[in-house]
Amino acid sequence: MKKFHGTSPRGLLNHPASPAFEGVFGRIFRTLPKADFSVKALKDLAKEMVATPDPPTPETEIDDEENPGIDAGYTYFGQFIDHDLTFDPNSSLQKQNDPNGTIDFRSPKFDLDNLYGRGPNDQPYIYEPDGVHFILGPAMTGNAKDPKARGLQRNNSDPKRAIIGDPRNDENVIVSQLQASMLRFHNVVADNMLKENPNTAFEAMQQAVRWHYQWVVLHDFLPTIVGQPMVNSILPHLVSGKSIFEDKPKLTIFSWSNDPFIPVEFSVAAYRFGHSMVRPIYRLNQTLVDRQTIFSGDPNKSLNGFREFPLTWAIDWDLFFDPGGAPLVGKNRIQKAYKPDTSLVNPLGDLAIAKEISGDLQIPSLAERNLLRGKEFGLPSGQSVARYMNIPVIPDSDLRVGKANEDGENPGKDGKIANKLLTDISKEFKDNAPLWYYVLTEAQQEFKNNGTALKLGPVGGRIVAEVLIGLLVGDSFSFLSQHHDWKPFKQFLDKTGQFKIRDLLRSIR
Ligand code: HEM
Repeated sequence: MKKFHGTSPRGLLNHPASPAFEGVFGRIFRTLPKADFSVKALKDLAKEMVATPDPPTPETEIDDEENPGIDAGYTYFGQFIDHDLTFDPNSSLQKQNDPNGTIDFRSPKFDLDNLYGRGPNDQPYIYEPDGVHFILGPAMTGNAKDPKARGLQRNNSDPKRAIIGDPRNDENVIVSQLQASMLRFHNVVADNMLKENPNTAFEAMQQAVRWHYQWVVLHDFLPTIVGQPMVNSILPHLVSGKSIFEDKPKLTIFSWSNDPFIPVEFSVAAYRFGHSMVRPIYRLNQTLVDRQTIFSGDPNKSLNGFREFPLTWAIDWDLFFDPGGAPLVGKNRIQKAYKPDTSLVNPLGDLAIAKEISGDLQIPSLAERNLLRGKEFGLPSGQSVARYMNIPVIPDSDLRVGKANEDGENPGKDGKIANKLLTDISKEFKDNAPLWYYVLTEAQQEFKNNGTALKLGPVGGRIVAEVLIGLLVGDSFSFLSQHHDWKPFKQFLDKTGQFKIRDLLRSIR
């Protein structure tokens, strides 16, 4: 049997290793026992976690699978962040994996190595001859608000692959355009700085871009995903008004000896929450007549990546990140992410339908891959992590599998999420839930069918927040370490003085 490598669906069987890129994966909960499951139980659970296909909700209606609290763009910004931090092309779904022996091919830092690669000297083909600006791809149309829209430069292979620092950032059309937008942001920052001082060094521009991005992760992405109170509990200086130097970060579960690492509880479980936020269909801009499905067998109608897609598909980011006051229905509607719940949209159950990402995909269900990966890395159960963290454990009678809505395919009789109990699928799951599932079910518990925003809960939210903040705090080059009072450039701020991902994306137009 051909050996399966983790990221091969994304075409990465032979990624070159470079010592400069390597960190190690490790564990947060080193003393907790690994949760044991049979492969059959996990496969059965994975099957239940993939929704059956249903017709798309028209744009004239609000889709009850949407999360009112999180705009759809955060899903792909989350994926972009993941690709900046982690990349494990080597672990196998067929053997036990030791996190301490698993290499992270991305530096566990918010340093945008997925944009910069190894820099202009080592990878000159991603930079303009000036060695300062990124080479951009062809002009894109369809979004009148962004006449300067550009795609990614591509090679001449068939299909044409993007020439970028991390090939995974071309996995789907949305993350691909986010990568192109971030390259443009670097170029805009470079122009701004060169105007001020024509002798500005590339490293200074790189630092400014990284710090703007880190700012957005801390002040926009994290509060959106885990809630501001969780962020404040880890960084009390944000509330006290003192400096981070005086009012130090409070990391309760994540610690490291020399340099922070990527914990497998984060990369194999908690941070994969984003898979459940993927929508089945997206509007890219107002000019296109149709919306595009996330993945399908017909690349002309879907967002399959790793190929050149129509140049009329320029994304209007205002449909993905609310610019303020966007309507909830119609062609200009703000698209919301799907709820973080124990259900993935149907196309993610069979990634092989997107031929370009199929590779040698022997396990095409993303749900199954996540669950098997958790088993292979010997992750503890969600319940044992909750107990360790002194957080009330969700009783088995509340652990449901399905969509967090009441008129979905599997509505709960008692008005509570889905009918199907985790323990109906296998008795092995009694007080023993896979960590990825548990993080999702925790978020799902917030569902009240009254328009509540679903965010990550106390276990998932703390793992995600402590790791992301820990990586920032432990990076001696981050803005939190180097410049306590640093603020984003004034010209990029919104009217209220804030700088969010939507402002970053507006600055490039
Ligand atoms: C359409 C969107 C996405 C697709 C098709 C996708 C697909 C995949 C695939 C195939 C893997 C490898 C699975 C394995 O073999 O273990 C993976 C890993 C992963 N994904 Fe996604 N993903 C998507 C979006 C996201 C989002 C939105 C997030 C988080 C916000 C995310 C977080 C992760 C993480 C943390 C890993 C492990 C990375 C590593 O350590 O190498 N993904 N994804």
